[in-house]
Amino acid sequence: MIKSKIVVANWKMNGNIAKIRTDFNYYGQNKSTNNTQVVYAVPNVYISSINELFNGNNANYNLAAQDVSIFNGYGAYTGEVSADMLKNCGVTYVIVGHSERRALCNEDNGALTRKIENLIQVGITPIYCIGESIKNREDGDYLNFIQTQLNVLTELDLNNKNIIIAYEPIWAIGTGLIPTMGQINEVANYIHAYINQNLKLLKVFVLYGGSVNASNTSDILHVNGVDGLLVGGASLKPEEFANICDIAVNF
Ligand code: PGA
Repeated sequence: MIKSKIVVANWKMNGNIAKIRTDFNYYGQNKSTNNTQVVYAVPNVYISSINELFNGNNANYNLAAQDVSIFNGYGAYTGEVSADMLKNCGVTYVIVGHSERRALCNEDNGALTRKIENLIQVGITPIYCIGESIKNREDGDYLNFIQTQLNVLTELDLNNKNIIIAYEPIWAIGTGLIPTMGQINEVANYIHAYINQNLKLLKVFVLYGGSVNASNTSDILHVNGVDGLLVGGASLKPEEFANICDIAVNF
């Protein structure tokens, strides 16, 4: 059961075992509450140790991976990590289609469809990332661009499934720039309307991501249609991330 607000830390290719332990001492055990779910998307190699740390301390956090293989199950796919394996390690969410992976690892819509399908099959909730470039935004065709990214979902049987969509404008990621609250609201409404029209999901959650920090968290969470945050850089700073979670919890 997904709660009403979701805060996801996207560590990207950062962190180490020592950091995990220091950070954990800092966060304490109870950032997630009845209405807010805090999720850590960490590098695959750390998933099991973090899972043990969380379980050993009765911490109510959830774990996410940052990617999943296009291949399913088990087999001769050197270097790949499947949805089944992630599930086996305690992962409940997986980020799919982050703009860094689309750009740097050439992930196309066909691959993303397969990834989401594999996750759904094993009961992991995908966090599907979408968002326009600065050129799309300036040219005024950003909603069309976002629509082509959303079309990936209509290829799949998602009836009665939960899905999380993270709206992350590429130009806002790691830049310190964020859209106006009106711009975020426009896209969030667009995503909700698209989903209502084209899919029969159990529930869709729309997160905002891109230069989220403790100072803009409250404003973003007040935007109609936004159900949470995907936090990159600020999630690596334990004090700041704890503040972001506190704001979400007390929202
Ligand atoms: P950022 O990254 O918060 O550092 O902008 C967000 C993301 O890429 O998910």
